[in-house]
Amino acid sequence: MSIKKITQIFALDPWELTEADILTVLQTPWQVLAPYARSLAEAHKGRHVFVRGLVEFSNICRRNCRYCGLRFQNKNLHRYRLTQEEILQAVACARQAGVDTVVLQSGEVPCAAWLGEVVRQIKSQFNLPVTLSVGEHSAEDYALWRDAGADRYLIKHETADAALYAALHPGHSLQERLRAIGTLQHLGYEVGGGFMIGLPGQNLAILARDILLCRDLRLSMIGAGPFLAQDDTPLAGERNGTTEMTLRTMAALRLANPEANIPATTALATLDAQNGQANGLWAGGNVLMPSFTPPEAAALYTIYDNKNRVSVRNAAAVIESLGMTHPLKMPDSEY
Ligand code: 5AD
Ligand code: SF4
Repeated sequence: MSIKKITQIFALDPWELTEADILTVLQTPWQVLAPYARSLAEAHKGRHVFVRGLVEFSNICRRNCRYCGLRFQNKNLHRYRLTQEEILQAVACARQAGVDTVVLQSGEVPCAAWLGEVVRQIKSQFNLPVTLSVGEHSAEDYALWRDAGADRYLIKHETADAALYAALHPGHSLQERLRAIGTLQHLGYEVGGGFMIGLPGQNLAILARDILLCRDLRLSMIGAGPFLAQDDTPLAGERNGTTEMTLRTMAALRLANPEANIPATTALATLDAQNGQANGLWAGGNVLMPSFTPPEAAALYTIYDNKNRVSVRNAAAVIESLGMTHPLKMPDSEY
């Protein structure tokens, strides 16, 4: 690694970047990359941090992703679904705190009409963009939610390697996932995607392709967090992704996607409670996603172990410590 080489790569247009360039970046310490990534982020996104309010409304899921604690075959988990009133209450808290959008997230289950009604309620009661993150569904269901007022959709490609994708998602393919992303974009959603870092079976070349795939998909938002082994999954005991590689990846993502919104993920904050979010913003991120899920429910949303809870207070403090701005208003009571 030479500074001259890194300076040259960070001066390239995203569409000129090759896999070799990304590999060079991924082999460079994150502290070297951070000033380049931060200055790109500031040139394209300013010093403002967008804040998404996360509402994890159900942990019920029909899929069996091998890395995730919410997988259908995990019988060690009490399943919940919040009522419409509980969701609206959580959204009211998020609205009051000043978030830019609410993200309604759950496992994947058929819920077209019910969720459409929830979206309609939120849009009529609160003046907020609504983001859905509820997995793969038919074009008809995606269209129904769009008609109900949903503005954005988060759906990660998880890994750009088709064989690894198939191994981690029994019965599913990367191709069908990419088709879902295309359908959502066609329907006019602003689509966010992303992938995991340090998945068992992943290597640097795959990670480089993950980063370039996000560019090629022209995603509005890109979430890339470390894989964290969950005890009740087939990947229990596997090695976790690292903060170092996550931060290198975030810097590379900023380089390849200068206009994208890039969150410092909750998974990164779980690996490094002290500095994860601040380092994520420093390495090119410009979004935080504090949780507004009621605590009893959040404790059951165990996609991975020891999940950190990013609070509004926490998010605001991190952003202010970096001299950046945010839309948050401090609540009188604790969330
Ligand atoms: N480690 C890290 N991230 C995970 N996700 C699911 N399981 C894990 C895990 N064990 C992420 C996936 C998915 C999102 C809901 O959470 O990227 O898209
Ligand atoms: Fe279900 Fe999503 Fe977990 Fe897969 S990652 S098991 S779809 S909640």
